[in-house]
Amino acid sequence: MTDVLVVKTPDEAGEWVASRFTATIATRPDAVFGLATGSTPLPIYRALARQAAEQKLDLSRVRGFALDEYVGLPEGHEQSYRTVITNEVVKTVGLNPELVHVPNGAIDGIRTAGERYEEAIVAAGGIDWQILGVGSNGHIGFNEPGSSLASLTRVVKLAEQTRQDNARFFDSIDDVPTHSITQGVGTILRARNLVLLAFGEHKAAAVASAIEGPVTASVPASAIQLHPHVTVLADEAAASQL
Ligand code: GLP
Repeated sequence: MTDVLVVKTPDEAGEWVASRFTATIATRPDAVFGLATGSTPLPIYRALARQAAEQKLDLSRVRGFALDEYVGLPEGHEQSYRTVITNEVVKTVGLNPELVHVPNGAIDGIRTAGERYEEAIVAAGGIDWQILGVGSNGHIGFNEPGSSLASLTRVVKLAEQTRQDNARFFDSIDDVPTHSITQGVGTILRARNLVLLAFGEHKAAAVASAIEGPVTASVPASAIQLHPHVTVLADEAAASQL
């Protein structure tokens, strides 16, 4: 059963999610969070920083695993998700960078990078809370339409729609990588709790298919229906086709 919360603003969603996270950290200071990039989760990170400061929570043992990373960007590239996670999550929230993992998108070693990432998640005891955004084509992480619902962390080819959506972050679409390494749909489903956030009209169709459509690899986000503890937080525009 998927809980759906319709929020007035992204900040309201961020506060709600952050309050769940701080409650978890208060009882388990080394809790494990699945981190997402994109504009959607930013309110969570801001709210988490504020709530943790107010509650004087110790965040030094909190652990994180990013969902995905581009393949082949040079180290330190400003659009690599390692850089984005460092700037938007580690620094904003005040986490220990050594405890925050991002899949390794370097070409060297890419064949085994997925397996190593899976092992690291298992060794950490699994993910307590996984944050998800949703692509306009229904992708989660970089699991594009057609991804197996049992898939684990692996290299995938990006859909043309995704490259176009993300071209705004690069000088031109030719600079957008063609491949990424992403936690699989199966990896995501192993997390103990999922929160999927979506804001804006352009997400309405993806949200409706994810929650009310058939569970299908054509809409990877629909896999959340298979999970026992999932909350979708959407603003009125993103919830308008429900
Ligand atoms: C990227 C990420 C996804 C994210 C999506 C939506 O493709 N790999 O994890 O959900 O963008 O981004 P935004 O939140 O900016 O709409």
